[in-house]
Amino acid sequence: RGRAETYRPRLHFSPAKNWINDPNGLIHHEGRWHLFFQYNPEGDVWGNMSWGHAVSSDLLHWEERPVAIAHDEQEMIFSGSVVYDERNTSGLGSADRPPLVAIYTSTLKDDSGLQRQSLAYSTDAGETWTKYAGNPVLDIGARDFRDPSVFWHADSGRWVMALALPTEYKIRFYASDDLKSWRQLSDFGPLGATGGIWECPNLFPLGDRWVLLVSLNPGGPAGGSATQYFTGTFDGTTFSPDPEQGTRWVDHGADCYAGITYNDAPDGRRVFLPWMNNWLYADRVPTTPWRGAMGFPRELALHNGRLTQAPVHELESLRTRTLLSLTDATAPEGTRRLLADTGQFYELEAVLAPESPATSAFGLDIRTGGGSYTRVGYDTAAGELYIDRRSSGDVGFAAEFPGVHRAPLALPDGGLDLRILVDASSVEVYAAGGTVCLTDQIFPDPSACALRAYADGGAVGIETLRVRALRSALR
Ligand code: FRU
Repeated sequence: RGRAETYRPRLHFSPAKNWINDPNGLIHHEGRWHLFFQYNPEGDVWGNMSWGHAVSSDLLHWEERPVAIAHDEQEMIFSGSVVYDERNTSGLGSADRPPLVAIYTSTLKDDSGLQRQSLAYSTDAGETWTKYAGNPVLDIGARDFRDPSVFWHADSGRWVMALALPTEYKIRFYASDDLKSWRQLSDFGPLGATGGIWECPNLFPLGDRWVLLVSLNPGGPAGGSATQYFTGTFDGTTFSPDPEQGTRWVDHGADCYAGITYNDAPDGRRVFLPWMNNWLYADRVPTTPWRGAMGFPRELALHNGRLTQAPVHELESLRTRTLLSLTDATAPEGTRRLLADTGQFYELEAVLAPESPATSAFGLDIRTGGGSYTRVGYDTAAGELYIDRRSSGDVGFAAEFPGVHRAPLALPDGGLDLRILVDASSVEVYAAGGTVCLTDQIFPDPSACALRAYADGGAVGIETLRVRALRSALR
């Protein structure tokens, strides 16, 4: 691959060319993980929105397929979901060939700009799609009414849909027996963060609770786009949030938006996939001939009522050599080089702890070289974990890009445990058992591959640290 593809992710999905945003229609079906996504088939900025498509057998190696649902003269194809209609309740397949059904938002191209919900179906396992002749299936005459998240609600034996009323900070629930006719159930919100419009809801059971994801733009903790979550109960009609929840962010970094989870994932798994970008500068990130990538797929769980996240276990199959392994080490105040060449993408696990009360900050500098570095740090006085990407490489393409992104986190008793996934143009941090996450894009020179420890005010103890090389998942 030429220099032009310097920033091409090796561990994350990115399209061969052109613009992508939200993941859509995530479903595991007949052994394959489908990833549909907001796609501009004709350019590298937002427009002509259609559903692109990729498939994978392991959530690592993606094969891009032809555009699944294309925009036309009348409408753009906005975000939505796909369900497997096993009992052919929609009649869009047959008993022998039950259909996959996509429920998406039709955004009209005329001056009305109306947003309505529509269906398309596939009887060849997702390869080709036909728009339903009776579209739209849900129209309330609104301009901001989008991003249907549909799932089979077994207890009430019907389909349930969550939809965003973005400018009202509401999620509206509907039910259907056949995916074609929908009746309104209830509204949720406003609640939590309302600093920007609400988009891309996703409701699902997790452990003994239900979780509702709601993306918000702008108003995120790192500026611009971010996703909040609520825990609660869902009785088939109403989502009732658990009491006294402050705003809870899925990820405190700048680049984790519009994430939803897979329908029909095997083994009770709940796999989450976000768009690894931010509407503040998504149209300017310095990649070509593609623009936009997905985050690494994450396994979700609940621990004491809070979301925990981890890279899907499939990641382990990419591990090759251990590049560095330390135990009971110390790094003095200042910076100390730990490894000269990590490569552009790798996995790191560490437990760090301040050596003295004077140690006011400590952490790791990744993708270091030629004066640039990205700092994954902990501020002991503030009690915050952060990513500082102000000197991470190319930061000049958008004024909103350089910055420090922080997450409140009490220092765990045994030290700060970190799991970090570094790719050619991103860093994802899972801390404190995956209870706090930060995802940021970075655009360092490909030669910036050193790893440093750093500490302010006193030394930092490196109780354990392991850097693992990974095989590229690029085909
Ligand atoms: C979220 C979003 C969705 C919409 C899509 C359009 O990023 O604004 O609400 O369906 O992108 O591309």
